[in-house]
Amino acid sequence: MAINGEKMIKRPLRWAMVGGGRTGQVGYKHRIGALRDNTAYELVAGAFDIDAERCKDFGIGLGLDGSRCYPDYKTMFAEEAKREDGIEVVSIATPNGTHFEITKAALNAGIHVICEKPLFFTTDEAMEIKALAEEKGKIVGVTYGFAGHPLIYQARKMIQNGELGDIRVVMMDYTHGFFGEDVEKNNAAAKWRVDPKISGPSYVLGDISTHTFCISEMMLPHMKVEKLLCDRQSFVASRAPLEDNAHVLIHYDNGAVGTMWASGVNSGCHRSQGIRIVGSKASIEWRDSDPNKLLFEVQGEPNQVMFRGMPYLNEEGLEYERLGALHEEGLGESWANIYLQFAIAIDAKDRGDEEFLKDFLYPDINFGLEGVRWVEKCVESADKGGIWVDYETEYETEYKTSTSDLKQYVG
Ligand SMILES: NC(=O)c1ccc[n+]([C@@H]2O[C@H](COP(=O)([O-])OP(=O)(O)OC[C@H]3O[C@@H](n4cnc5c(N)ncnc54)[C@H](O)[C@@H]3O)[C@@H](O)[C@H]2O)c1
Repeated sequence: MAINGEKMIKRPLRWAMVGGGRTGQVGYKHRIGALRDNTAYELVAGAFDIDAERCKDFGIGLGLDGSRCYPDYKTMFAEEAKREDGIEVVSIATPNGTHFEITKAALNAGIHVICEKPLFFTTDEAMEIKALAEEKGKIVGVTYGFAGHPLIYQARKMIQNGELGDIRVVMMDYTHGFFGEDVEKNNAAAKWRVDPKISGPSYVLGDISTHTFCISEMMLPHMKVEKLLCDRQSFVASRAPLEDNAHVLIHYDNGAVGTMWASGVNSGCHRSQGIRIVGSKASIEWRDSDPNKLLFEVQGEPNQVMFRGMPYLNEEGLEYERLGALHEEGLGESWANIYLQFAIAIDAKDRGDEEFLKDFLYPDINFGLEGVRWVEKCVESADKGGIWVDYETEYETEYKTSTSDLKQYVG
């Protein structure tokens, strides 16, 4: 099925943002995602900025009623609760160290949450929020931006179909060169990223590798990390203990092995993230710098490049198709897809349709939790001198077993 903006839920959700204001790097991506299908969300309120005046000015500039541009999130949740048409869902696009308290306050105010990654600092926090969301009957979605790209679903289905054979090797990387020097001296968004009080226990592992780890989980739902070894360093020494470069070795429970390279000091690199999955018969490879192509390489046959939107893709690879194969789709469409997924999940949750939600794949609290665990375990390994650490914890991991069929969704 192709997405064409037609409504999939009865009416747009009343949506607000915390953070993502005029100076925020990621805020516009949220608005692209939510407002691409204007049948899904209506932006009605915001506490967009740490600066109250700038928040109001910015909100009015976005077309909001100035009285619904709030000086802080606590005031917003309290004031919106008094209205019959108060907000139903809030997106959190503030620096990492604020995610936990804002998410908790939103859930306690009866509001669904869409939160930035890395979700929180610890798995204990993530488990607490998961339990609270369950208790309150709300969803927590996590904005791993490229997790909604159609070719992720294509690859996932091909792997499930056995087209690669048994999976043996997973190679992941997410790197850039913007932090090759101490850019944090003159850049506020860089500064908090290397401050453990605001960024959390890591820099590049949390800031970027969580994206690629989430994509690997989506493509490989049948494989769990069993143990890992991480080596991290701060090439700009003043960033220590937070790393600007890390390598991770992974052992999976099915005997496969993997690697992740996360770096902010990969000078000149603009290829951001990629994943190559090697099976006993064939390999696939995808990079977000060329997201409309999926390499499919079968041993002994000419290599294939599969293009997004082509009819030869599988049903899941075409499910979130928007523009048609002649035209490129990238980060904007992928954000629109995850935001549409969040809207559908919220609608299903509000109607108590747990049956639908059971098999509905989207970057939910479990992917957020696993991202936090990934960082926690990498840091534990690195800080113990780069030793193998077991990945199993007392917590259950939960993954959806299949993608949804949007055609069957009746909101
Ligand atoms: N998903 C992605 O692709 C992606 C990309 C970039 C950043 N991020 C994540 O998004 C979050 C924000 O990152 P950024 O780069 O946009 O940061 P930023 O520093 O550029 O912007 C932060 C924004 O939040 C506002 N803010 C800060 N504290 C606030 C508070 N208590 N209440 C209200 N507003 C507040 C600031 O005024 C600013 O508008 C981080 O968690 C980061 O990891 C995700």
